[in-house]
Amino acid sequence: MLIQLTVNGETIAVEAPPDITLLDLLRDYLNLTGTKEGCAVGECGACSVIMDGRLVNSCLVLAPQADGSEIVTIEGIHAPDGGPNDLQQNFIDYGAVQCGICIPGMIMAGEALLMHNPHPTRQEIRMALAGNLCRCTGYQQIVDAIEATAKQRQGEMG
Ligand code: FES
Ligand code: FES
Repeated sequence: MLIQLTVNGETIAVEAPPDITLLDLLRDYLNLTGTKEGCAVGECGACSVIMDGRLVNSCLVLAPQADGSEIVTIEGIHAPDGGPNDLQQNFIDYGAVQCGICIPGMIMAGEALLMHNPHPTRQEIRMALAGNLCRCTGYQQIVDAIEATAKQRQGEMG
């Protein structure tokens, strides 16, 4: 079937089977492999993307459900010059990246949180990451990186 959607600001029409997931559509049909597959059953958050302003596990969304939607993937998160944005740079600076499988999903969860709650407490940051599993970092540095980004963005907004 023909699926039309907007991905990272670009309107796309793609022929794909109706029984594949949004995750597979992104990775296998649109070559956006930054979104990772961990568990494929909605438990790890590695496949997180923002769909119509909401964080979703793309492994739980059927591609036809995404028809007409606006998707942001990790490829759509960057600074104007194409380098890391402030959140991504803080993940680097705070040592929040180890193996990296979970990190695209963590960044999407962080961006979704800051979109809806620009002044999160550490507890709210931890709650926002509750659906994103990481085996490597212990979460401390990830929470630190998101908290630092929130403070910097508040500062920038005066
Ligand atoms: S791959 Fe989707 S939640 Fe784990
Ligand atoms: S950095 Fe390895 S799973 Fe999170």
